[in-house]
Amino acid sequence: MNNNGIDIIVEVRDSLPPLNIDKNVLHQILTNLLTNSLKYTVAGSILILAEYEHTSIKIIIEDTGIGMDSEKEVPYIFDCCWRSQKVQHNIAGHGLGMTVVKKLVGDLEGKIEVFSQVNVGTVVTLSLPLT
Ligand SMILES: Nc1ncnc2c1ncn2[C@@H]1O[C@H](COP(=O)(O)OP(=O)(O)OP(=O)(O)O)[C@@H](O)[C@H]1O
Ligand SMILES: [Mg+2]
Repeated sequence: MNNNGIDIIVEVRDSLPPLNIDKNVLHQILTNLLTNSLKYTVAGSILILAEYEHTSIKIIIEDTGIGMDSEKEVPYIFDCCWRSQKVQHNIAGHGLGMTVVKKLVGDLEGKIEVFSQVNVGTVVTLSLPLT
């Protein structure tokens, strides 16, 4: 898949068990995460990986975008209305998407982690329990 010169690679491991969660909720979580990767990646790729892990499904979204400082920015990513300084004036947004994602993942008793490096990219790891 290709979107404005960004390669989008989807890898879904064989025989994933079904996730027993509301389709709209999953859609909202993934839409927010993928929209971010698209908005904050100028060139390179976005990798979407889904795999089965013990009692959960793990979804990894990895981009080669502008990234964030792991100490000065990433810790605030789930805070309401927080946006990094470098995007505030040139990329539209409200700083709400990740706050919503965190709440929805918490309601599902899942886990979400963000790793990032400035000018290298961002990796979001989402883990959703099967029951
Ligand atoms: N994949 C990413 N790469 C780089 N920075 C990111 C990424 N995802 C989130 N961010 C940073 O975290 C901030 C908060 O993200 P969040 O999705 O909550 O808000 P937003 O994208 O600014 O606006 P919206 O409410 O429309 O989603 C972003 O403004 C951006 O600075
Ligand atoms: Mg967003």
